[in-house]
Formats: sequence, structure tokens, C-alpha cells
Amino acid sequence: MFKSMGSIKRRDFLNLSLGTTTAALLSQCSRVSFRLAESSSAANQAQLYSSEGGLLSLDLEAVAQQIKLGSRTAHLLTYNGQMPGPQLEARPGDTVQIRFTNRLNQPTNLHFHGLHIPPTGTGDNVFLKISPGESHTYEFQLPKNHPAGTFWYHPHYHGLVAEQLFAGLAGLFVVRGELDNIPEIKAAQETFLVLKDLALDRRGNIPHPGHAAQMTGRMGDLLLASGYINPEMTIAQGGLLRLRLLNACPSRFLNLSLEDHPLYLIATDGGAIATPVELSHLVLAPGERAEVLIRGTQTSGQYRLLNRPFNPAQGMMGGGMMGRGGMMGGPPNRNRTETVATLTYSGTVAEIPLPSQLLPVEPLLEPQIVRQFTLNHGMGMGMGGGGMVFLINGQAFDHHRIDTQVALNAVEDWEIINTGTMAHPFHVHVNTFQVISRNGQPVPYAAWKDVVSVSPGERVRIRMAFQDYPGKTVYHCHVLDHEDRGMMGILDIQSV
Ligand code: C2O
Ligand code: CU
Ligand code: CU
Repeated sequence: MFKSMGSIKRRDFLNLSLGTTTAALLSQCSRVSFRLAESSSAANQAQLYSSEGGLLSLDLEAVAQQIKLGSRTAHLLTYNGQMPGPQLEARPGDTVQIRFTNRLNQPTNLHFHGLHIPPTGTGDNVFLKISPGESHTYEFQLPKNHPAGTFWYHPHYHGLVAEQLFAGLAGLFVVRGELDNIPEIKAAQETFLVLKDLALDRRGNIPHPGHAAQMTGRMGDLLLASGYINPEMTIAQGGLLRLRLLNACPSRFLNLSLEDHPLYLIATDGGAIATPVELSHLVLAPGERAEVLIRGTQTSGQYRLLNRPFNPAQGMMGGGMMGRGGMMGGPPNRNRTETVATLTYSGTVAEIPLPSQLLPVEPLLEPQIVRQFTLNHGMGMGMGGGGMVFLINGQAFDHHRIDTQVALNAVEDWEIINTGTMAHPFHVHVNTFQVISRNGQPVPYAAWKDVVSVSPGERVRIRMAFQDYPGKTVYHCHVLDHEDRGMMGILDIQSV
């Protein structure tokens, strides 16, 4: 079953929509408070598919699609003609059935980023190659104890991941559960923002990534929030807004803040934290998610959700990092503040307090093994004619090689050591982890993560239990150009 999603409003004329409904949508643009939820013609808004009776079942197609972007037509890759793709929602214990068809002219597949499901067979199997015209049914069951959270799906065919994600292939996978039942959170208004950058040439095509993309990864100067440029979000005076954010940019770090409103972090990649944490700004590395509460403490007005320039290398190379308008000619956006969305006040409700307790983040047992993963880059030879390659422990990805064998149910600490000059958001499939320390300093609060950014010169220790599912999967840098250029390894979880 699907219906329109509707928690953000169009703010200005630049929006993405399906070609067939463009005329209808553009004619409504002049209405200031056009609310997508009230419109059946809002085909550009991600459709919502929710599980019913324990089953989430849908057809999903990766397909090239012309999408209207203001007066321009953009040639993008979409799921079911939408960008972002349909929003999928299920509950712990549900069965998920996705009849997937590849209508692209290149191979692809699906990855369920952050879900704790089998990495094999019809599950989160990133080793599958689904050729043009082929179909595959993904089918798996979410475990009954799966945490509620903001997860997502995107292609994972090695070598084409950055290109396909950048072109538009990404969607949310939301697990509803315990966190959603906390009364204050239940009372909050919920808005999802899929943040993704995009670059278009005059003809509406995505330009070939330049030389800089070999280092920094590809970036675009348009920053879209759920397919819109600067959409409007509303909050009631006295109320709470629950913002659920995904950084779906293949390479861009985001540094988000909301004018005159602190952000109260309630959940990270893997779900709830123990108590809200007040933040003045929120940094999201590529692939990361966060949920924040915003209190409607003002009376009226408009407040911008801003993305400020952020140097993920954190001073190692100062402002002279390659790709920042320097020798490699980085994108212009990296030095300016962008408006991601705008918050406006509408209505008044009886004051909703912040929740004082969320959900406990249980510590993991002491590790049986400590492993080290050193991240760096170098100049490659052969394969694709050389250029930059990205390495883990000195090696580029090889799908014939198993890099790391672990025992099912073992607890391990992994030290991720960045000896290079760029930040690398390190991501592990299937099991979430807790960050233990950065350069030996314990982190301020416990959280479930599946992406952790490691700055140049930094040593980050993460702790992980390999639970429930044996099989082969991967870990990699979530700057997806780095992943496509080798910064990925195979993890074999063995039942003993
Ligand atoms: Cu979102 Cu293996 O990635
Ligand atoms: Cu993933
Ligand atoms: Cu990287």
C-alpha cells in the first residue's frame, strides 16, 4: 500500500517532479502554503510503503527518469521514478519482500544500509550482480528485537556505487518500534530529510566527475532535501519537531544547524541514545543518520536550517585541502553556507517537554580480539588505467580475497587508523557498533553507529558483536568514490 508522504512543503519553484505531473505541480507553485500531503498529484514526493499484517511487499525498479527541476529537465536514475526513492517502513519481526528489477543500462543491486539482516542469499547480499533487464526478489525477516531507526537502501555494485547514488538512487528504510512509542516523541511532528547533493550541466545531465573527484569524491552544488531545494518545514509554538536526517551524499560532509534553535539529538545510525544531547550543530558524514528534536520555543518567524562549510580533514591541511578551490578545483559550495530547509511556525499547542529518558544503550562485553585497519591512499597502476586508489591495510578491494574472518557471536574492537590526508567515514554492514574512543579519549555518550568518520591522524576504536548472521559481507569507506576505488574489505562471519 502506498500513500503520499507529507511533512514538508514546497517553498519555491525549484522542485523535482515527474515529467507527467509537472504542469499540475507548477501551476500550484504560486500557492504559498501548498501542502504536499493535501495533494494527490505530488508524485515527486516519495511514496510510503508500510508493512501490513507483518508483511512489507512491493515492486521496485531502478530506472532512468527525466525529472523536472524548475525550468530544467534533469536526467537522473530513480527508484520507481522517484528521487528519493519510495520510503519503506516496517516493524521488528516483519517480513520484507522486494521484487526488484534493473531497468538501467548497467549492473546494479540493493543494499539495506544499517539493517541487521542476513548478508547472504536473498538478504542484504551486496555480492549480487543484477544485470540490465534482470530481476531479483529480496526477501528477509527483520529480527524481533531489531531497533527502531532511520535506515536506507542504495545500490552497492562495486565500481558504480558513487555514480548510481549521485544520480539519484537512494531511499529511506524506516523501522518503527520502541523509540516511536515514547510519549513525547509520539506527540512530536515528524519530518524526514533525505539530504543529497546533485550537479547538473546545462542539458540536465550529470557532468562527468572531474579530476578532483578522484580524491575528494564527487560533489554537487545543489543540495536537495528530499528532492526539494529549500523546502518548508513547520513547527507549532510549544510543540516538538522530530527531524530525521540522512546524509545521502556520496562524498559530502554536512554541518547542520538551525537558526535560534538548539538541536536535541535522540538517535544515531542504529537507533535511540539514552537521553537527549543538546547540540549547537550536527555533523553528518556521508551515510550517517541522526534524529533530533527541535522545540517550538519561538513565537513566529522563519528559521533556516543551514549547512555551513566544514573541513572534514579538521585542520590537518587547513583550508588548503585539495578540492577546496585549490589545485584540483573543488566545487564552489564548499566555502559557502547553504540553506537546506526553512522552519516556519504554524499554530500553537500545549507545551510538549523533551523526553528525559530514551532507550538504554547497553555496553558490549569486553573484546576477545583487537584488530587494526589503516586507511590511506596511493597511486594505482593497471585496473582502469591507474589514478588514485584507496587502501585498507595497504590493499585495494579484491572480491576474491577475504580480508577479515571473525567468529559468530564474538565481540571485537577494531581500531581504525587514518594515516592519510582526508577524512574517511568507516562503515560496517550487518552489525552496528559503539565508538569506544578517539585517539584514546573516551567518547561522551554511548550510541549505536554503523558509520564513523576518522579524520587524518586519528585512531578511532569501535566495538562490535557479530550477532545472529554468519556469512560474507563488507566494510568500507562511505565516501563512495573511495569505496569504488578500493577502500573496501570483505568480512567473513563464521559460525563455529
Ligand atoms: Cu551505505 Cu556499504 O553502504
Ligand atoms: Cu551499508
Ligand atoms: Cu574515504
